[in-house]
Amino acid sequence: MVTLDELERDPHAALAVIRPIGWMDALGGWVVSGRALAVAVMRDPETFTVDDPRFSTAQVVGPSMLSLDGAAHAAHRAPFESPFGLAETRRRFAGPVERTVADLMELAQSPSDLRTTLAGPLSVAVVAYSLGLPQASASTVLDWYTAISDSVSGVAAGRAVTAEGAAAFAELHRHVASGIESDGLLGAAARKLSTDEVVANAAVLMFGGIETTEGMITNALWHLLTHPDQLEVVRADPTLLPNALEESLRLEPAAAVVDRYATRDVELGGQQIRRGDLVVVSLAGAGRDPEVFPDPDTFDVRRSNARRHLAFASGPHICLGMHLTRLETQAAVAAVLTLPDLQLLPESPAPRGLVFRKVPALNVTWAG
Ligand code: HEM
Repeated sequence: MVTLDELERDPHAALAVIRPIGWMDALGGWVVSGRALAVAVMRDPETFTVDDPRFSTAQVVGPSMLSLDGAAHAAHRAPFESPFGLAETRRRFAGPVERTVADLMELAQSPSDLRTTLAGPLSVAVVAYSLGLPQASASTVLDWYTAISDSVSGVAAGRAVTAEGAAAFAELHRHVASGIESDGLLGAAARKLSTDEVVANAAVLMFGGIETTEGMITNALWHLLTHPDQLEVVRADPTLLPNALEESLRLEPAAAVVDRYATRDVELGGQQIRRGDLVVVSLAGAGRDPEVFPDPDTFDVRRSNARRHLAFASGPHICLGMHLTRLETQAAVAAVLTLPDLQLLPESPAPRGLVFRKVPALNVTWAG
């Protein structure tokens, strides 16, 4: 029987055994690891909902787009759709992202753990900037994020909301409430949503944008640096870089699973699901479905359908930040690849984690 520890380290073999769907005791639920079935679940929110009291994020930050379905979900998400659309993302963020990457690269010195010197601070700075919170520095945003996400993990494990989590959320609430006065993103959202609703969605944007982006950047660099032949292909033709980033997401999506709850008894991939059952959609499993991706465990920067991965989910909850995070990752990885004589230090561990999968450290050296 597969253990939590195995799933955290390397879930891929276990996901292949149960594909397209199977029960995992370690998770207390069904796990969907076939791509077609994963899409079917995520596109049927009436049968497989996020709106369940067991959803820990909502217990800490209140209902938001992440924890609602149907009309309520659409209402919470609508004010943020256009600001995070492709055109607006490029217009608003391309310059600040490039500048932040350049500043961080200027400070980084060989040897360096690029997770803590580049990927982490970039994702925090961009989230702080995107929320447009007056007087909230990147380090304040990181402190809130850490306290709130620790609290969410505790609630998921059956503990109560922590005092630190509640205090951080109160601070975030105060800042967002004052941000609403401005004519930025939060002010626009507040014309459609209550203050509490704006705050909950701002928290979800923080949640969505920090660890995931850090993981996407470091996993992409790790894949490239551990496959020198593929790195050479990208160096020879830099127009392949965006596809290389998609290929990395396919193999190790930074958010590996999304949870849904069955609203009725239903048959799924030949299994009988009972009302109330937890249905874990494995985005990592979908990305290695051999019916869609031949030779699925191979990192191939030229793979023609790499973009069919489900790392950003599918259906109504499809990632709102995908254009922004792609922009950040592209800028960060391109900048790192310009470093002369870039080398990954030995013993650079592979991505790991149950929900968020990322490399624990990305230690590199370069000449300079
Ligand atoms: C700037 C960075 C990011 C921001 C601001 C962001 C924001 C969000 C938001 C607000 C949602 C909720 C949408 C909804 O429920 O309607 C979401 C969903 C999601 N995001 Fe992102 N995200 C970012 C980066 C990423 C990255 C890098 C990944 C993975 C590689 C990712 C994976 C997902 C997934 C899988 C969902 C679906 C959750 C579900 O269906 O339960 N996100 N994102």
